[in-house]
Amino acid sequence: MTAQSVLDAVRRVEEAPLADLVGVSVDDVEAQMDHLLGPEIDTASLYRRWERQQWAVSDLDFSADVQHWQNLPASTRQVMQNTMTLFFIGEQAVTDTLAPLLYAAPYEDERIFLATQIADEARHTVFFQRFFEEVLEVGGGLHAALEAIGPRATEGFRKIFEHQLVDAMDLVRREPHNGRAWVEGVVTYHLIIEGYLAVAGQRSLLRLLRNVGMMPGFVAGFTAVARDESRHIGFGVLALRRRIAKQPEMARVVTLKVLELLEPAVRTAVAPDRRLPIEDPRTVPPPLRVNGQELRDFALSSLAKRLRASGVSEPAAEEIRVQGVDLYEAAWSEYERKHGLRHPVRFYQEGLVSAL
Ligand SMILES: [Fe+2]
Ligand SMILES: [Fe+2]
Repeated sequence: MTAQSVLDAVRRVEEAPLADLVGVSVDDVEAQMDHLLGPEIDTASLYRRWERQQWAVSDLDFSADVQHWQNLPASTRQVMQNTMTLFFIGEQAVTDTLAPLLYAAPYEDERIFLATQIADEARHTVFFQRFFEEVLEVGGGLHAALEAIGPRATEGFRKIFEHQLVDAMDLVRREPHNGRAWVEGVVTYHLIIEGYLAVAGQRSLLRLLRNVGMMPGFVAGFTAVARDESRHIGFGVLALRRRIAKQPEMARVVTLKVLELLEPAVRTAVAPDRRLPIEDPRTVPPPLRVNGQELRDFALSSLAKRLRASGVSEPAAEEIRVQGVDLYEAAWSEYERKHGLRHPVRFYQEGLVSAL
């Protein structure tokens, strides 16, 4: 993208009312997400964006989505429902755990921004509740959503959301003056969960639905979610940059925490225990294909970009990216051993198939 086309994309994302977000591509949202890492962005400008970018779950119309969902192939529905459930768990978990970070934030501007983020996360949870109930016909909230996809599918991501996140935030609550615990909380929440796990899920779901022009209610709402997440990730990077600028040794704290979380995070994304409903991606129509290798490279380079923007050195960010690549390879091989099948990503790696 040229500098001008980046600015155009940023404007398209930032100024679109909810009804127009269905026409905004995830590439534009990603350009905007990167724009919010720039040196001219501060917590006050993120707050102003929040004021202007309000939206209401109750304004969304899911009537076409109900029909479209039934028309998608069953295997695609199953893969999508897994990703959507991961988001549902994630949104509820982050809504429930963000308060200690606000309480312990030492600066007023950070507490103000985090108050807006808590409201956003609550809205995202309500978005998924409504979508699951009306479109997927899974009423009864998160518990029912988890039942619907089966316990094996959720093992990996429960580790991140129910243990790592809860423990990190509990330490912040118990020790509000522990600056290191606060930084580790932001790494867990804003860098790993939002800046790594969520961005990959956003990209795959929104691309695929745009390719086929389906589920306009979900696409509009989920693009609004993604735009909110851009602000949250931008805030996380600002908060880390502030600490590293004051205490350069905090860069090491950030790096160590990321390295600790990387394996469970990659295993959440790959979920080697979960047998995929698609064995050979050549049987899937091209617009509905997801190239796991491309998604991996995108997610890991997004994470490395955010680390560099936080003030982590280039070699340390690169080391994390390279370790991430190895962890994916290990998780894919584990899948193959467990299920006695080739992982679908191999078809992309060998050039036997390509996505749109
Ligand atoms: Fe969220
Ligand atoms: Fe968020």
